[in-house]
Amino acid sequence: MTTIAIDGPAAAGKGTLSRLIAGAYGFHHLDTGLTYRAVAKALIDAGLPLDDESVAAHAAREIDLSGLDRATLSAHAIGDAASKIAVMPEVRRALVAAQQAFSRKAPGTVLDGRDIGTVVCPDAEVKLYVTASPEIRARRRRDEIVTGGGQADYATVLSDIERRDARDMGRTDSPLRPAADAHLIDTSTMSIETAFQAARAIIDAALE
Ligand code: C5P
Repeated sequence: MTTIAIDGPAAAGKGTLSRLIAGAYGFHHLDTGLTYRAVAKALIDAGLPLDDESVAAHAAREIDLSGLDRATLSAHAIGDAASKIAVMPEVRRALVAAQQAFSRKAPGTVLDGRDIGTVVCPDAEVKLYVTASPEIRARRRRDEIVTGGGQADYATVLSDIERRDARDMGRTDSPLRPAADAHLIDTSTMSIETAFQAARAIIDAALE
């Protein structure tokens, strides 16, 4: 059984890359960001606060991984709310347990998030850390929102990304950082196809 762990900040391209990798190797894929987003959305929809750890942990224990819908969870505001509940250890404990159970599916899995290589799957056969400059990520995220018919201002998106990076990298429990044995892929000047080829070369070499 093989596990591929992919971490990195928001809008670095790790989601697209993870889906391509899972498709190429015939592995199951879990975008763990969706699990944090689902908890945030469940709280918002129920009119519950985002700053009560036991309420959020209760919602986290109810999350069904098979019911995660990217389309309804992708809103920018839900990502911001997700990063608020993601600082809570009790929430992380519940979601990490579900993610670890997923990671054991045969014939192999690809999990992407912030702490996969460091906390969720520290024994993963392959670890990638996918990153890009905040400016490039903000431009990509803005273009994505505009292409989807929404409105987005570059400066606002950039400051949102910088705030989210600071929250994800600065938290005490499972901060975003590359595992010591992660391979770095900086996609700032890469097309998704080039990044995919780079990832494949690393994975093939590691699985040989
Ligand atoms: O990757 P995505 O933008 O969907 O993640 C939303 C938020 O969920 C992140 O900003 C982060 O705070 C949190 N997250 C996390 N650990 C993960 C995946 C996501 O803390 N493994």
